[in-house]
Amino acid sequence: MKIIVANWKMNGTVAFADRFIEEINLVDSKNLAVVCPPAALIGRFRDFRYKIGAQNCFSENEGAFTGENSPKLLKEIGCEYVIVGHSERRAIFGETDESVFKKWKAAIENRLTPIVCVGEKANERENWREILSGQLKLFLNETLSETIFAYEPVWSIGTGVIPTKESIETVFEFLKELLGNQTRLLYGGSVNSQNAEQILNCKNVSGLLIGGASLKIDEFKKIMEMKR
Ligand code: PGA
Repeated sequence: MKIIVANWKMNGTVAFADRFIEEINLVDSKNLAVVCPPAALIGRFRDFRYKIGAQNCFSENEGAFTGENSPKLLKEIGCEYVIVGHSERRAIFGETDESVFKKWKAAIENRLTPIVCVGEKANERENWREILSGQLKLFLNETLSETIFAYEPVWSIGTGVIPTKESIETVFEFLKELLGNQTRLLYGGSVNSQNAEQILNCKNVSGLLIGGASLKIDEFKKIMEMKR
């Protein structure tokens, strides 16, 4: 069984969500599918057959934090997963390794499964080991059995360029050594129905985090139905 996560980012409409739910509910997949729509659409997924996640949460459960999403409330409305530290959150909204760690902690305390994203930028490709070690430093003394990590090279997100099988396997071997053998690791960045199988066959890859292709219902269906 693989973990197939859809990250809609800030896309989709009520009508699209309703159509997506109707069509995906007809898919009989043995994989673990998790859909992360924009927060404003989560309520539409009440009768969804698969799992729901949020794209972000705050590190506190309640208080004077205008505009933030409480992990406690996300759990209450049916989320079981939450993405934290996506590269867009880091680049556009100023999230740091420290703030990502706090969000991770809040997610765990609320029994949400965090999907922690890491990855090097284009100009950091040669130093990926240092970059990933730095992003993960705060996690290394923690219990990580309930955490999923997603390796998303920033240069691969939305570009159509994916790393070779060899480089995915090298990075995932490194991550397994760093985080422990039990940790589940996803790959994300330009995944589609054409390349998904090849990536799922890479050693140590437990699943996929899919942006653009998760907004195309037929594409997402095909990926959900892949090897278990
Ligand atoms: P992409 O996005 O699949 O569109 O490259 C992946 C992501 O940002 O999680």
